[in-house]
Amino acid sequence: MAVTQKALPLTEEPLDSEFLDGVLQKNEYDTENVIMILQDITARYNYLPEVTLTYVARKLNIPISHIFSVATFYKAFSLTPRGKYIINVCTGTACHVRGAEKIKETIEGRLHIHEGETTEDLMFTLDTVRCLGCCALGPVITVNEKSHGGLDRKKTASLIEQYEKDS
Ligand code: FES
Repeated sequence: MAVTQKALPLTEEPLDSEFLDGVLQKNEYDTENVIMILQDITARYNYLPEVTLTYVARKLNIPISHIFSVATFYKAFSLTPRGKYIINVCTGTACHVRGAEKIKETIEGRLHIHEGETTEDLMFTLDTVRCLGCCALGPVITVNEKSHGGLDRKKTASLIEQYEKDS
């Protein structure tokens, strides 16, 4: 069963003030650096636990609503837990005509999640993206930072299987 955006509470992470103080110090406690601060938190947790946002808002002496507005504006940030592997299926025109939908269906079938969802074991999150800038390789997906092109159903299934084995 998949973990959906609505199924989870915002956070249950314990507060690690030492880590957050380090992040704030690195970013000079500057309210102009909120995006960088959120990036650092995301790099550790893979999402933005509510407890961390509350702490940052208090330490920077800014309203929590400001942090939330930044956190919800950028697709790179998530307020709910995300998988260790973030899969992005390109659904841009070039990939679409080369079978991106079949690739997406194959991943959905294998992981039992749909777009925007995360597997219960927090290993995989599935998203789509509009053009990854390597259209000639389509259909293309990325798994975290790594691109995989020239996919068909079979190659996609074995690729996901490989990530399952590596996890
Ligand atoms: S449309 Fe998929 S990489 Fe450009």
